[in-house]
Amino acid sequence: QTVRLEDYRPTAYAIGTVDLDIRLAPKATRVNAKIAFSPREGTAPGTALELAGDELKLVGLTLNGAPLSPEDYEVGEDTLTIKTPPEGPFVLEIVTEIDPDANSKLMGLYRSSGTYCTQCEAEGFRRITYFYDRPDVLAVYTTRIEARKSDAPILLANGNPVEAGDIEGTDRHYAVWHDPFPKPSYLFAMVAGDLACVSDTYRTLLSGREVELRIYVEHGNETRCDYAMDALKRSMRWDEEVFGREYDLDIFMIVAVSDFNMGAMENKGLNVFNDKYVLANPETATDQDYAGIEGVIAHEYFHNWTGDRITCRDWFQLCLKEGLTVFRDQEFSSDMRSRAVKRIADVRLLQSHQFPEDGGPLAHPVRPTLYRQINNFYTATVYEKGAEIVRMLKTLLGVEGFRAGMDLYFDRHDGEAATIEDFIKCFEDANEADLSQFARWYAQAGTPALKVAEHWDEASKSLRIDIEQSCQPTPGQTTKLPFTIPVRFGLIGPNGADMEWTSASGAELRDDVIILTDPRHSITFEGLSSRPVTSLLRGFSAPVRLADDKDRDALVFLARHDSDPFNRWHAVQSLAMQLLKRGARTPGALATDEIQELASLIGEAAGDGNFEPALRAQLLQLPAESDIARELGTDVDPDAIAAARKAVQVAIAGHCAESFAILYEALADTGPYSPDAEAAGRRALRLTVLEYLAWIDGEASVRTLGHYRTANNMSDRLTALRLLVHRADAGAQEALDDFEARFAKDALVMDKWLTVQATAPFPETLARIRTLTAHPTFSYANPNRIRALIGAFAAGNQTQFNRPDGAGFDFVADTVLSLDKRNPQVAARLLSAFRSWRALEPGRRALAEAALRRVAEAGGLSSDVQDIATRSLQ
Ligand code: ARG
Ligand code: ZN
Repeated sequence: QTVRLEDYRPTAYAIGTVDLDIRLAPKATRVNAKIAFSPREGTAPGTALELAGDELKLVGLTLNGAPLSPEDYEVGEDTLTIKTPPEGPFVLEIVTEIDPDANSKLMGLYRSSGTYCTQCEAEGFRRITYFYDRPDVLAVYTTRIEARKSDAPILLANGNPVEAGDIEGTDRHYAVWHDPFPKPSYLFAMVAGDLACVSDTYRTLLSGREVELRIYVEHGNETRCDYAMDALKRSMRWDEEVFGREYDLDIFMIVAVSDFNMGAMENKGLNVFNDKYVLANPETATDQDYAGIEGVIAHEYFHNWTGDRITCRDWFQLCLKEGLTVFRDQEFSSDMRSRAVKRIADVRLLQSHQFPEDGGPLAHPVRPTLYRQINNFYTATVYEKGAEIVRMLKTLLGVEGFRAGMDLYFDRHDGEAATIEDFIKCFEDANEADLSQFARWYAQAGTPALKVAEHWDEASKSLRIDIEQSCQPTPGQTTKLPFTIPVRFGLIGPNGADMEWTSASGAELRDDVIILTDPRHSITFEGLSSRPVTSLLRGFSAPVRLADDKDRDALVFLARHDSDPFNRWHAVQSLAMQLLKRGARTPGALATDEIQELASLIGEAAGDGNFEPALRAQLLQLPAESDIARELGTDVDPDAIAAARKAVQVAIAGHCAESFAILYEALADTGPYSPDAEAAGRRALRLTVLEYLAWIDGEASVRTLGHYRTANNMSDRLTALRLLVHRADAGAQEALDDFEARFAKDALVMDKWLTVQATAPFPETLARIRTLTAHPTFSYANPNRIRALIGAFAAGNQTQFNRPDGAGFDFVADTVLSLDKRNPQVAARLLSAFRSWRALEPGRRALAEAALRRVAEAGGLSSDVQDIATRSLQ
């Protein structure tokens, strides 16, 4: 049941080709799979062939054209074994029957709003036919699909279209697709249904090939695909320009479906998307939605090279494709938008999602060494921290060294299933570097901490910086070896400019990067004209916690002068965090002069014309309640945190009332709506200012309600709605009713309406959620609805999920238990909201633990939920 990295062995047989003939019917789909096997070198003649299967009905089995007799094979619960295959190559023909309509797990072949679609990563192909359903078995697929014309006029599969036609004398038709690139089964896809198609073309820069681009959506959504199509074309161009990677088939297709367990899937030539990451227009999508679409379209497209052309040897190597591809999509978005703002957003996400994972019972290395359920390892650690490791490689090797390593990787491993060792070796070979210590980032879990102390020697005008690294124990890893940590830095002089030094010793320095390798370094800078203020970890050059003993004055100085926009933001955050932590521990402990100081800084940042509005919006935002909880680390009382945060917000609003009101008016958009980064940045700043203003009594409600009523786009409308509802403002009900009336037919938009209500910080919220589960827009069958209502509550409503009476925990636990029978993957994801339960104060901690135990001890759990429950309690 437990899979271990060290147990990896290649399969006994290789697969050359797979010919699938799929006859679609809602309740009984026939799959005929003709699979050409040949023994691998070293396989003893007659070695049994063992294939994986899941919820399959075997209806036919032949070997080299002759039926197999029952004593020649064995069908287990989730295996099919051919006891003594012939020597040499052979063809196995397997006929299975499956029930797409009954497939509520949304893995394998299922139906979404009448459309047949597939999701095979990680282990879904075995729900279609018996197979070597693992990523190191690469084969060439030909897929024939047959269906009733009226049910499914569109028939799609991976690769290029080969043939299509009607079946004489019936109401059925067929299509044949051939994918010339060998691929693992998790990249297989087919789609069939009555879909609308939006098409375009792209001419590659590198060899001028014309590629047909198609986005398939439900009828009526054709007008909502423009942004996705544009993002796709920009992604294709960018990957050629920045990584030298050209698209390789004649056609690239995206299909948007409404029932999908995750964001999207990079099946070769036929990406399947959660429609949330495709459909957009100004009335229905926020600026954040647009950015999300751009990022996910790019991510899945980039997988064509980092994932499809070069795939993973086994699932332990998941970060090989995911971390790398996240890094690539982050770079793409940085080039399309503001690099500084993107970096802040990415670090925010890392700190809010990955740091708590690393600090709790579910911590695991970026490359794990064992798992019980692979679906539970599509985590922020594998994705987000995985991307940080690739970014550090680039920081350490430089732009050219990094590109040389990537080029070698594409060159050397194209068409293969590779490992992290293979990947690292390419960077070593291309740069004549030794990255063995660096590779510990993949093996050791936990967030390293850097403790910094500075010593200024006035007599010699030298600065010594002592840096000590450490890493807390994580499950299965009690002690850690030191990491290689690149610390980008600057020494800032009294005039605010970076200063020079004459010599430095104590650690390797490359340009403005200190490379830490030892548990302790004492780095001395000589020849300074005066004592500088240090700016460490610029651009968040490593995924670590930095504990420098900076006092308030130094932080204020950095907030005003650091040339690195990330560290300016970080300085403001640190000041706010110090204050908020104190306020959360000791109500009434907030000193007015400190709040005033923060308010002045924030007021200054808001109006600072040297910075783009999107960056100013980031500078204005206080750490979230969950960030404060994470930084407190123990004895967390979410109500105290919320109260402290509100007090600081109100004080800042009061301090900046006048300038914010002016800014709010000045930033009003005049022209027509545009989702571009600049316009989105202005809206973000204006909405952040509105959020502060909404705290001020009297006029606030009028302003926010007016904002709602006059909104001409979803960003404005949704923020105003949230502010009204979360402040229990007089206009809240009017806005909720209006929103519902406008969008009742658009489930994707109604998800926002659900989330706003599920995240309201009031004791009434839980009852409200129970009522909403009966609302026509809600359904336990649709993952987006569950995430919008219950996921948002569990992960995004600190005070109410963590209610002191435990009712929030119980509600989520009950939901997990009932959902587990329908969709284990979504249930397990929901349960991971408990990951920081140990950090709570004793009362809540006991209640959370009891709820978790109730789940863990329930009978008949899926391996997905069982795994999360058990590990959470360890
Ligand atoms: N490979 C997909 C992506 O990152 C996600 C697949 C998630 N699969 C899963 N079993 N959770 O684009
Ligand atoms: Zn991915």
